Amino acid sequence: MSDSPTHALPSYLDAAHLGPWGIYLQQVDRVTPYLGPLARWVETLKRPKRALIVDVPIELDNGSVAHFEGYRVQHNTSRGPGKGGVRFHQDVTLSEVMALAAWMSVKNAAVNLPYGGAKGGIRVDPRQLSQAEIERMTRRYTSEIGVIIGPSKDIPAPDVNTNAQTMAWMMDTYSMNEGSTATGVVTGKPIALGGSLGRVEATGRGVFVTACEAARDCNIDVSQARVIVQGFGNVGGTAARLFHETGAKVIAVQDHTGTVYNPAGLDVHKLLSHVSQKGGVGGFSGAEALDNAQFWELETDFLIPAALEGQINQSNAHKVRAKIVVEGANGPTTPEADDVLRENGVYVVPDVLANAGGVTVSYFEWVQDFSSFFWSEDEINHRLERLMREAYSAVSQVAKEHKVTLRTAAFIVACTRILQARQVRGLYP
Ligand SMILES: NC(=O)c1ccc[n+]([C@@H]2O[C@H](COP(=O)([O-])OP(=O)(O)OC[C@H]3O[C@@H](n4cnc5c(N)ncnc54)[C@H](O)[C@@H]3O)[C@@H](O)[C@H]2O)c1
Repeated sequence: MSDSPTHALPSYLDAAHLGPWGIYLQQVDRVTPYLGPLARWVETLKRPKRALIVDVPIELDNGSVAHFEGYRVQHNTSRGPGKGGVRFHQDVTLSEVMALAAWMSVKNAAVNLPYGGAKGGIRVDPRQLSQAEIERMTRRYTSEIGVIIGPSKDIPAPDVNTNAQTMAWMMDTYSMNEGSTATGVVTGKPIALGGSLGRVEATGRGVFVTACEAARDCNIDVSQARVIVQGFGNVGGTAARLFHETGAKVIAVQDHTGTVYNPAGLDVHKLLSHVSQKGGVGGFSGAEALDNAQFWELETDFLIPAALEGQINQSNAHKVRAKIVVEGANGPTTPEADDVLRENGVYVVPDVLANAGGVTVSYFEWVQDFSSFFWSEDEINHRLERLMREAYSAVSQVAKEHKVTLRTAAFIVACTRILQARQVRGLYP
């Protein structure tokens, strides 16, 4: 179809041409045979409900004017308002934002949060801008997408290169335009603005909780287990610390500065303070340096990819000697590598389940903002753990029933929930 001279651009329903969105469409096709009569509604999943492209002009510090491409996509809102992060990155495209929005629909439904899926982004390298320029860009972007976001419509959150400060600017801009303070319009805010305790650690904690559930299914004693972690930031650092505090041995950690290895187990607390001083794990004295490629070949109980997408791919998947992979990062395993891991009997806890702890505590933040009543950190961690355990259990039951991977099962659970909501709501008008 895309070769036709009358169709210079491919339709967004064309899986062959669309980058990340194309991968998502293939995933939907893979899960459709398991949806029974709900398959009648599957087209709903293949079309974002709404995609907004905005121009974001700002005055630069030198007096000139720059324009940036901004996006906000609401993939599905059948189960509740849209929810998903905002990314500032030079490679942001509509295809990527559409796919990330769709994966948020799947993630939110897989853990049964009352949200649909959304995502936003600006095609910009924020390292090229001053703080004041980033603030102006964030505020103009928020004003432009203000027509479709709101505490009961669509609730943005931080993603790549955005943080609590970005959310504070977004909340302030939205509130100024509305004429009243609306804390619930974004999550991941600073505590002083109605942010939630426990949010910073939530994703790593969720990774650890789902890893413990998977260990039970695989008859592995976590307190005796060996663990290797790629990425030692917010997600990987927290997950590694929780493993370490349970008695597990974290034997190798890789980040952008290299790989450190100690078969007797790294002192994770010391490694965390080394990283906060030096900016990376490289040069840590309590370990030997290891070649980056050898990291993937280490014999271990758990492998936690918690850095970038596409890290487990055709070149290294067959070398992985982990019993369980728990995906802290979004999309760390390519579809081809996923097949290799399955053939080799590696048990994979997929990203849409394993890293859902962050959006779960975002949900708690939103609930707390609505009631203006804030919970203790213990209460938040307790509720997070219960929700993640229940989500894992529902997905693993479906995996056993259909004899499929946890990834396919998570998609079955999520797509079923979304399409059930679609069906009972019916079509308007
Ligand atoms: N933070 C959250 O709440 C959250 C929620 C869901 C998913 N995620 C996903 O988890 C992943 C990590 O997020 P984060 O918040 O921990 O980020 P972060 O910036 O805190 O940490 C990223 C880590 O990855 C490492 N890294 C970067 N490039 C690398 C490379 N080439 N090789 C090896 N390591 C490399 C960095 O050194 C750093 O240790 C991302 O995929 C993100 O989308 C994060």
